[in-house]
Amino acid sequence: MEEKTQRQDVPNYFKRLKAQNGLQTIVVREFEKADNLKVQQIFYDGMMEMVADTAFRGLRHHPESLLLYTAMAVVCFVITMCWWVIGLVPSIVLYGRYFYSRRVIHRYLEHTMSRDMGDIEGFYNKSPDSCLWVAVLDGKVVGIVAAVGRQKPRGAVELQRMSVDRSCRRRGVGMALGLKVVEFAVTHRYSSVVLGTTAYKPTAHLLYQRLGFHCVGFTNGYGTPDVRLDLLERIFYRMCHHHYKLNVSNSKITENGQH
Ligand SMILES: CC(C)(COP(=O)(O)OP(=O)(O)OC[C@H]1O[C@@H](n2cnc3c(N)ncnc32)[C@H](O)[C@@H]1OP(=O)(O)O)[C@@H](O)C(=O)NCCC(=O)NCCS
Repeated sequence: MEEKTQRQDVPNYFKRLKAQNGLQTIVVREFEKADNLKVQQIFYDGMMEMVADTAFRGLRHHPESLLLYTAMAVVCFVITMCWWVIGLVPSIVLYGRYFYSRRVIHRYLEHTMSRDMGDIEGFYNKSPDSCLWVAVLDGKVVGIVAAVGRQKPRGAVELQRMSVDRSCRRRGVGMALGLKVVEFAVTHRYSSVVLGTTAYKPTAHLLYQRLGFHCVGFTNGYGTPDVRLDLLERIFYRMCHHHYKLNVSNSKITENGQH
């Protein structure tokens, strides 16, 4: 009850959390049961975009993987003494990276379905410390984001599940969703918003920076949280987890995301 009152007490610039986009208006509202399929689809599509990103773009960010593949090529050559085997290695590596990235990300998606994304209402919207919102544009659900509060009071809110329908990108939807999470953190008196991303392409990083987040570190590794990997997956799937943080104590955030 107290939480509901707090949600109504937000400052004006948060209350009017709409991003004007030409004639269209983005409305961010709490998840409803009828949104379930669309929300799962947007999340699935966003995660599947990570496959090519991790497999191909990620290669440039992991010199240790390139070293490993070179060593594999040399060993193949020494064993077979055939030059054409070396020529085949790049294709095998790229295929392996795509195949195993897809497999790991699929398993991660299965894991999320057995957890929060399989029961969104039960997981997010029944506790005052968490919520999942949808962005509605032109009457259609086009984006999602969730917040999970940790270590109350004065702890952090974790922003997660940020994804926008591909056909509605660069129209301020991600911004509106991010601001909603910041509003949640301020209203519920958390001190910061934190998030992690394994994306290599700059889009998500630019969005978070635009929202005022700072990268506070990164973890290089094999594991996507809660997913265990076998040897081949460890060889072909490698990722970098970037950690972002935004302090919201005393923050003044406008609808444009300026502080
Ligand atoms: C990342 C993502 C959520 C951004 O959503 P979006 O609705 O397109 O973002 P916005 O339109 O609100 O963009 C906000 C700002 O982010 C930056 N940005 C977003 N997309 C960009 C792009 N393709 N190129 C350059 N800058 C970009 C810009 O600074 C932009 O502000 P501007 O348009 O005023 O320049 C969306 O691309 C997405 O869903 N990607 C796939 C899933 C994903 O990566 N999720 C994040 C996992 S952590």
